[in-house]
Amino acid sequence: MCGIVGYIGTKPAQQLLVEGLKRLEYRGYDSAGIAVIGQSGLSITRAVGRVQSLEDKLEETGSLEGTLGLAHTRWATHGTVTQANAHPQRDDTSGICLVHNGIIENYAAIKTYLEEKGHQFSSETDTEVLAMLIGELYEGDLESAVQAALREVTGAYAIVVVCEQEPDVMIAARKGSPLMIGIGSGEYIVASDPSAIVAHTTQAFPLENYNVVKLTRDHIRTSTIENIEVTPRIMQLEMDLGQIELGDYDHFMLKEIFEQPSALSNTFRGRLDKKSGKVVLGGLDEFAKQLVKAKRVIITAQGTAMHAAMIGEYLLEDLAKVPTECEYASEFRYRNPIIEDGTMVVAVSQSGETADTLAALEEAKDRGALSLGVINVVGSTIARETDAGVYLRVGPEIGVASTKAFTGQVAVLTLISLFMARRRFMSAEESSALLKQLELVPDKIERVLETADTIRTLTEKYVHRENWLFLGRGYNYPTAMEGALKLKEISYIHAEGMPAAEMKHGPIALIDKGMPVVFIANRGAQYEKVMINIEEVRSRGGHVIAVATEGDTQIKSIAEDVMYVPDVPEALSPMVTVIPLQLMAYHAAVLRGKDVDKPRNLAKSVTVE
Ligand code: AGP
Ligand code: GLU
Repeated sequence: MCGIVGYIGTKPAQQLLVEGLKRLEYRGYDSAGIAVIGQSGLSITRAVGRVQSLEDKLEETGSLEGTLGLAHTRWATHGTVTQANAHPQRDDTSGICLVHNGIIENYAAIKTYLEEKGHQFSSETDTEVLAMLIGELYEGDLESAVQAALREVTGAYAIVVVCEQEPDVMIAARKGSPLMIGIGSGEYIVASDPSAIVAHTTQAFPLENYNVVKLTRDHIRTSTIENIEVTPRIMQLEMDLGQIELGDYDHFMLKEIFEQPSALSNTFRGRLDKKSGKVVLGGLDEFAKQLVKAKRVIITAQGTAMHAAMIGEYLLEDLAKVPTECEYASEFRYRNPIIEDGTMVVAVSQSGETADTLAALEEAKDRGALSLGVINVVGSTIARETDAGVYLRVGPEIGVASTKAFTGQVAVLTLISLFMARRRFMSAEESSALLKQLELVPDKIERVLETADTIRTLTEKYVHRENWLFLGRGYNYPTAMEGALKLKEISYIHAEGMPAAEMKHGPIALIDKGMPVVFIANRGAQYEKVMINIEEVRSRGGHVIAVATEGDTQIKSIAEDVMYVPDVPEALSPMVTVIPLQLMAYHAAVLRGKDVDKPRNLAKSVTVE
């Protein structure tokens, strides 16, 4: 979970690298650094804090001249957030310098070995150990030294390496953490994701696991760490810069909340055949029979994607009548899961790079499961590892707090459920009616967005409260979980989401006078039960904030505040009921003066365990 950029070409490297870091800063922002090789050899500048701190330092100490360089914005795993632990890290003998995303798991043993050989370390990081190991193995050929070192390490890495003794060579390698190679004319740009490449070229390829690439200004060689040549599969990057610019919004999160109507329209475009009641998902056609015959589905994910997965469980059982369970990937991967014939595993991930989700997927595949991906980033690792999949098509999501990707994941899980349902037990009429309702969801989200100012005013009333509960039932129990996560991860207010009935089994003890309790109380099968839970909270002095269906006047008599949403079939309601919760979290963070797009301690993609 950090951002890496490398450049070799004929342009001055510094500005290009710093611009690249800014595009990747959402991936981690504890510290930043840059190294350039030029006429005066290897120069390194590093700073604690955001990329802006690095820019300020470069202003102070002077620009780094050269057309070969690398840069890094860090999310610390080993070693506190200090300048000494910032990347780039270097060795002490051979002029090796590198940046790294990932974790070198056996770094301690290697560090001991190198200390015994007299190497002096100056940081607490695992990354410095890798730089030192490459230096120890360096015998005049950087590519070989990197390959040799990578044969010794375990863990995850995406690295870019240069050496002062080879000022015209840049090496990149990866295992587990993402890395893309952009192919320009007479230049190459290496980066953690396409957002730092598309400004320079749309020709690129993702490095595969255990691959090493050697770049000079006029040549590229891709091999394995065993030095076996491989031919990369070059792709056309589809992202355009407009998609990753802030535009007129104050934050990416707000932009992405308001993009949801158009984003979901993209998700649905060409996929709803309302006449036949069938869902058209080209990526699943090859496996349609196995999907239809699936005996069990396991959906695995983390964080917000897990909340979408939980809604997927309701959708698949309710609509497709297939036994389904969802599991945190970090648990699934280690608990020796039972995968019998007819089991399908669905990995849900916006980035397609989450380490735990990737590992859970690999575990399920090793045990014979058919694997599907519900992914946003095209060409990401999980997308490449699954047998089949469906892309969200919601466009790049930059805000660390996921919003349009969540509704996109729920939308795609709805499509997959209907794809299966129509081929199993659901009639054309029922499916067609649901598809017509599904097509109306973007407009319904638009209507909720029109109440954004009211939601901001409402949030102001409670923003000083330090503990909130989010409660829901059925399809909207996971939505309540998502609302709690949104609030806590960007405003740092403590919040818990749970099934509304669960509150009575302990958490009700938390409720005291004025405590905000958000209920998702839209029209649905358990509406009356939710009303009872609301009364239970009110009788203990809790302040009830309800998400309710337009026209519901009954709720006004028992809730302090009501946020109305248009009526929508219960199975489709989370895509609509989540919108007020996203807006509340956003405004709470802004009112509390927090960094909405880069919350403390977080990063956009958790590519380490
Ligand atoms: C979402 O708001 C969080 N930032 C986080 O929980 C995220 O959903 C989780 O890390 C999973 O990421 P993925 O969808 O890229 O796999
Ligand atoms: N493990 C390395 C460190 O802590 C890299 C972390 C990252 O991926 O940003 O510096």
